[in-house]
Amino acid sequence: MNTQDYIAREDKYGAHNYHPLPVVLERGEGIFVWDVEGKKYFDFLSAYSAVNQGHCHPKIVEAATEQAKILTLTSRAFYSAALGEYEEYITKYFGYEKVLPMNSGAEADETALKLCRKWGYEKKGIEENKAKIIVCDGNFHGRTITIISMSTDPDSYKGFGPYTPGFEVVPYNDIPALKKALEDPNVAGFLVEPIQGEAGVYVPEDGYLKKAYDLCKEKNVLFIADEVQTGIARTGKLLAVNHENVRPDILILGKALSGGAYPISAVLADNEIMLTIKPGEHGSTFGGNPMAAKIAIAALKVVKDENLAENAEKMGEIFRDEISKIDSEMIELVRGKGLLNAVIIRPKNGKTAWDVCLAMKDNGLIAKPTHEHIIRFAPPLVINELQIREAVEIIKKTLLSFS
Ligand SMILES: Cc1ncc(COP(=O)(O)O)c(C=O)c1O
Repeated sequence: MNTQDYIAREDKYGAHNYHPLPVVLERGEGIFVWDVEGKKYFDFLSAYSAVNQGHCHPKIVEAATEQAKILTLTSRAFYSAALGEYEEYITKYFGYEKVLPMNSGAEADETALKLCRKWGYEKKGIEENKAKIIVCDGNFHGRTITIISMSTDPDSYKGFGPYTPGFEVVPYNDIPALKKALEDPNVAGFLVEPIQGEAGVYVPEDGYLKKAYDLCKEKNVLFIADEVQTGIARTGKLLAVNHENVRPDILILGKALSGGAYPISAVLADNEIMLTIKPGEHGSTFGGNPMAAKIAIAALKVVKDENLAENAEKMGEIFRDEISKIDSEMIELVRGKGLLNAVIIRPKNGKTAWDVCLAMKDNGLIAKPTHEHIIRFAPPLVINELQIREAVEIIKKTLLSFS
């Protein structure tokens, strides 16, 4: 079978809910992936920042395979030898009293929303069914009905109504708007991405998160950070909120919590919030399973042992510097933090960000456009300086080929 055969089979038997770049991957190692024809690529998407530790990291693979031989799933009907070890490890790692383990990022967001509402009723004293959660214009928190109910992107919500009530949208990076919305005493929480990844890597002004946090504290409102994409060293700190020394009341993690080896997500909070959910009120068959527990410990250890946050910070600076030097009319703007970056493409002679991605693929680097004119560049955080410079050369050569 060749590339076209693989693509035709997916098209025929799979739902058409994605529009992939025409490359069929078979193998990955570190920052590289190989397609079914044997061609090697720099991976500059990292499975939307899930593969921060690099593809098939040996320590993570070892944890997965060892645990797979012993016990894979118990459900939470019983205790498991692995779960407590993970719970202790992750709560100490991020500095919270409790963790609630889930699987996908969307599920973790849903969990945070439920926790926030429950806290609003039980602790803040909001009248039953009146709790409101403030969210941001351009947000992306996943694909469930409730989550798309707070989306402002028609691709996400259109055609899937009726929607879940209880959300108010404010512009992102707008402190006065947030301040006004917080005047409603029924507000229980403010849910925010420290950098809006899916929207196109929108980095708010310095100080925005801290000011937003302080305003929430003034009004006894929970500050909820969705760090599913920005967390776990991606932006040059362990968490993106660490850039502003903010400690969210509820922290949502996913993606790189497994280094890409397994769907693992988590919600972290202190007892006052977490213990509002009682036995039987929330859960998931797979959440916190022994495989996930061991894989997440290994994945988090790699992040510390290999200083991935520091490396992301340094490599990100080089990347933005070098890309900014490329003399191409197609580069409208370069932005980002650490190794979560985006280049805004100005279309030229009918050629768009999609065409640039196709040409980069032919030149040995894969990345994907988001919202038509934006290309996100987010390699695994194990990339070194030589490799990042080589990757920049590919991007440069590609952009210049459109001149
Ligand atoms: C900030 C953020 N939250 C939540 C999600 C949803 O995660 P998942 O696709 O694992 O459900 C994503 C996915 O891109 C995300 O970027």
